Amino acid sequence: MVTKEYYSLAEAAEKLGKSKETLRRWDRDEKLIAVREPISDYRIYKKSEIDSLIGLFDDGIEETTNNFEKPLKQYKVLELFAGAGGLAIGLEKAGIKCVALNEIDKWACQTLRENRPNWNVLEGDIKSFNFEKYRNKVDVVTGGFPCQAFSYAGKKLGLEDARGTLFYEFARVINEVKPPICIGENVRGLLSHEKGKTLEGMISILDEVGYKVVPVEVLKAIHYKVPQKRERLILVGIRKDINIKYEYPNPYKRIYNLVDALKKGDLYDCDVPRSEGSKYPEHKKVVLDLVPPKGYWRDLPLEIQKDYMGKSFYLGGGKTGMARRIGWDEPSLTLTCSPAQKQTERCHPEETRPFTVREYARIQTFPDNWKFMGSISQQYKQIGNAVPCNLGKEVGYSIVKFLNKYYKKNQENLASISLDKVSIVSSNTPVPSTSKATSPTASISSK
Ligand SMILES: C[S@@+](CC[C@H](N)C(=O)[O-])C[C@H]1O[C@@H](n2cnc3c(N)ncnc32)[C@H](O)[C@@H]1O
Repeated sequence: MVTKEYYSLAEAAEKLGKSKETLRRWDRDEKLIAVREPISDYRIYKKSEIDSLIGLFDDGIEETTNNFEKPLKQYKVLELFAGAGGLAIGLEKAGIKCVALNEIDKWACQTLRENRPNWNVLEGDIKSFNFEKYRNKVDVVTGGFPCQAFSYAGKKLGLEDARGTLFYEFARVINEVKPPICIGENVRGLLSHEKGKTLEGMISILDEVGYKVVPVEVLKAIHYKVPQKRERLILVGIRKDINIKYEYPNPYKRIYNLVDALKKGDLYDCDVPRSEGSKYPEHKKVVLDLVPPKGYWRDLPLEIQKDYMGKSFYLGGGKTGMARRIGWDEPSLTLTCSPAQKQTERCHPEETRPFTVREYARIQTFPDNWKFMGSISQQYKQIGNAVPCNLGKEVGYSIVKFLNKYYKKNQENLASISLDKVSIVSSNTPVPSTSKATSPTASISSK
């Protein structure tokens, strides 16, 4: 019996666009190992694993997705918790202008100013800024608010209950600015944080400040032209007076790999520029020297495994991110804020070293000319914290699509209001009988 958590062989084969025979062979060759159903001994596959592989084995598949959407007017964003600008670059590429960016970290602010001297970078703690002057001046407020728990006492959490957290600040700014749409981004873990209550609380707070939250989705960066298995939870709020559907960007079929990030190809028109980078300490280097591309700690001789992993060796879980060497023909694992850190080594495929700063930036799809300020560790941190620019761009298109629909609707309302005026002004004069006037009190929601 195939449970809810598993696909049958046929289902897994269909999901991956391969034949059942190919999957049986991959199982024998240990390329994609099946689980055995206890009673029948049939091959079954963990759904989460298969879903994360969808598209990875596509070769030469014709791309039918295109999320591009041309803005009908110059839309403007206020970007909170802006970091080194990963999301802001993506939104800019989608045609959305940054009106202001807030960030507390001085090195990240220097990065933003160095690359975009015209951007209005508001440096400092978000708590010390009032954003009311942006009311009616921006179309979207975005922000990757760092997640902090807030106590969940009642059934419906109110804004005041979250006071002191950065989510409170995010909601406060939205309340001050009242944009048509707001977008928060966070890690997948927010879904299960405090058994889902944290997220539930956030949704009810946005409701309180006048926003209906679209069903939350976790987007996989690999489906949005990013050569990295990173995931971001997206929280979209639509101002309650607006009855327009928001649609998440469609996933692309083509998956980009490390080779696409670091070598000349479809993502970049030259090989990755040389740059500084950190190094592994000698004891780590001698161990990682033994790991093949796409391999990890399990590929080490048993004694070295035990010695290197210490207590973790005896703990459960695959720990597939430990002592990991990335292969050219796979996307990188999620980059962290410090590349040599234990438990999350992502070693270069051919050399035994972490990725350099510019390699890191490419895996996050930053442009090569985007400079990072501060020490090397500050630079890694800014890059590791970012929303991959290409994911930001696709989310940007989805915002533009929404705002275009909103803009068109408002234009239509305006047109019908001016028709009304014509009919009122001319009520004492002969009126063309075809005048399509609606209620003269019709109003547009423009806030
Ligand atoms: C996940 S990062 C955002 C990354 C950014 N969206 C990007 O794509 O590059 C969160 C940022 O929030 C900033 N931050 C944390 N506390 C803050 C505060 N009190 N006020 C303003 N920014 C803050 C951090 O310095 C960090 O850069």
